[in-house]
Amino acid sequence: MKIVIYIVLAAAVAAAAAGWGHLARVAAKNKKEMAQYAGEEEKVTANFGKTLVIYYSLTGHTRAIAEKIAVKTGADVYEIKTKEKLNGKPWFYLTLKKQLKDKKYPELAGYMPDLSVYDTVFVGAPVWWYTMATPLYAFLQQADFAGKKVVPFSTQGSNVGTYFDDFAGEAHNAEILQGASFNNLPAEYARAEDNKVSRWLNSIGGVAE
Ligand SMILES: Cc1cc2nc3c(=O)[nH]c(=O)nc-3n(C[C@H](O)[C@H](O)[C@H](O)COP(=O)(O)O)c2cc1C
Repeated sequence: MKIVIYIVLAAAVAAAAAGWGHLARVAAKNKKEMAQYAGEEEKVTANFGKTLVIYYSLTGHTRAIAEKIAVKTGADVYEIKTKEKLNGKPWFYLTLKKQLKDKKYPELAGYMPDLSVYDTVFVGAPVWWYTMATPLYAFLQQADFAGKKVVPFSTQGSNVGTYFDDFAGEAHNAEILQGASFNNLPAEYARAEDNKVSRWLNSIGGVAE
């Protein structure tokens, strides 16, 4: 019996050490990446024409980035909402994994936005299980981006997986411009994150110079 307890304890310590090591590596990578965005506030000079920011967010990170983009580009905002609450149960992580595996995406609430009046459409969501969150899959099944410049973005812990390739495969008729991904960061990186958004927007160059 004693030996079983020792094995379980050893496994728990090993798992905790691996988890801590992963977090430390992500923190170091974030620090290095964000150092290049520190300093004075960078202004957005690119002009995207009439712009819409579409986003899905379960816990607020993607909403925060979407709102930054909207303020910096003067865009309208459309939030993708699901009919059912997706994080109601403790095992929701696995439920969402199954939705992805089975390609059974949640039903969306409300109406689709009228894209016809926009030149540029930003579209963002969290990374779930190395791909797009299922409500974004559901949205893309119904959307047609013909004639629109489409700019994808994501938020994630640290690993985007195939998010951007999957987006390109699902965004019907979109002309896709350079996207960007944003790791969740501690508050100390707020200015750097803001500058990262601005520099990315300026690097796309805008569509209506
Ligand atoms: C079901 C689920 C799966 C996730 N999978 C990943 C992943 O594969 N890679 C990653 O870096 N983060 C992953 N995350 C973390 C989220 O992408 C991250 O916290 C994101 O910023 C949340 O955005 P939101 O606050 O807008 O919902 C996952 C989160 C959930 C709920």
